[in-house]
Amino acid sequence: MINPMLTSCTSEITLEGSSNAHVPDELFAGLLAKQACISPKFLYDALGSKLFEAICELPEYYPTRTEAAIFARHGAEIARAAGEGCTLIDLGAGNCAKAASLFPLLKPAQYVAVDISTEFLHEALAPLRQRFAQIEMEGLGMDFSQQFALPAQVRAARRLFFYPGSSIGNFAPDDAYAFLRRLRLECGDDGAILIGIDLAKDKAVLDAAYDDALGVTAAFNLNILRHVNTLIGADFDIRAWRHHGFYNAARGRVEMHLESTRAQLVQWPGGARRFEAGERIHTENSYKYQQADAIELLERSGFEATRVWTDPRCPFAVIHAQAMAA
Ligand code: TRP
Repeated sequence: MINPMLTSCTSEITLEGSSNAHVPDELFAGLLAKQACISPKFLYDALGSKLFEAICELPEYYPTRTEAAIFARHGAEIARAAGEGCTLIDLGAGNCAKAASLFPLLKPAQYVAVDISTEFLHEALAPLRQRFAQIEMEGLGMDFSQQFALPAQVRAARRLFFYPGSSIGNFAPDDAYAFLRRLRLECGDDGAILIGIDLAKDKAVLDAAYDDALGVTAAFNLNILRHVNTLIGADFDIRAWRHHGFYNAARGRVEMHLESTRAQLVQWPGGARRFEAGERIHTENSYKYQQADAIELLERSGFEATRVWTDPRCPFAVIHAQAMAA
């Protein structure tokens, strides 16, 4: 969020959110908590976004591939459900590839790409503006995970919130509900959501997806410490931490942790924390839903599912849901 590269960005990307000022406080609180944690949004600095792109190429990481296959197979039906000419708002757009794959069929009037990783977003949008000159495009560098206010240049009519990749699973269920409620308030009665949600499956498949053989996921998770070092001037020794990613079936979620390999003191200007050998920092959860529970969550939040597309080989759901009149 406090991105040293920001100064090199042109004004094409709007930086939103005064929440940036709270970044250090949020990090201090997490690092000093009894069970230490770092918010997953800090995984996505410029390098983290690239590492996540690499994760999406891994044979073990099925969600991206499965979702892309659903888009490719059912693109025409998805476009029919959404209707041409919508305002497509891509939350956590990353490299914008998922939305771009839908442009030819969906034909949005405006594309609004939102991501916390501002520089990465900027680089992804530039070629898209060339390729799809007829679509009006906006890039918003902001953290949308907590508060949510879209600037005036985002069209109000027929907003379609695009939230793929099962990012909804990175919220605890209550927070997922609060987040979807916020989307419902932001989209008006003619709005809708197109969301990709990963469904519960075999533990072995999930364990491998979040702890791959090459160690890319480990690098991605460890990179959060490097990012925190730059954000608050901490002195995390990355070699003294180990990635842990595993499915916790009882809690219905994959958990990602970083485990201290030895007793150590981590310091930053104004604070410090001692970690014992084996002590963990919790970095992310990835909840895996039952399809019926996902639909129920959308309904409670004010969206009625109109269509659900799944993959017969790998449980994953893409759902189009329309705003219900308030
Ligand atoms: N949103 C992704 C997911 O839950 C993020 C992710 C994939 C991730 N692999 C990870 C986060 C490993 C932390 C560590 O699938």
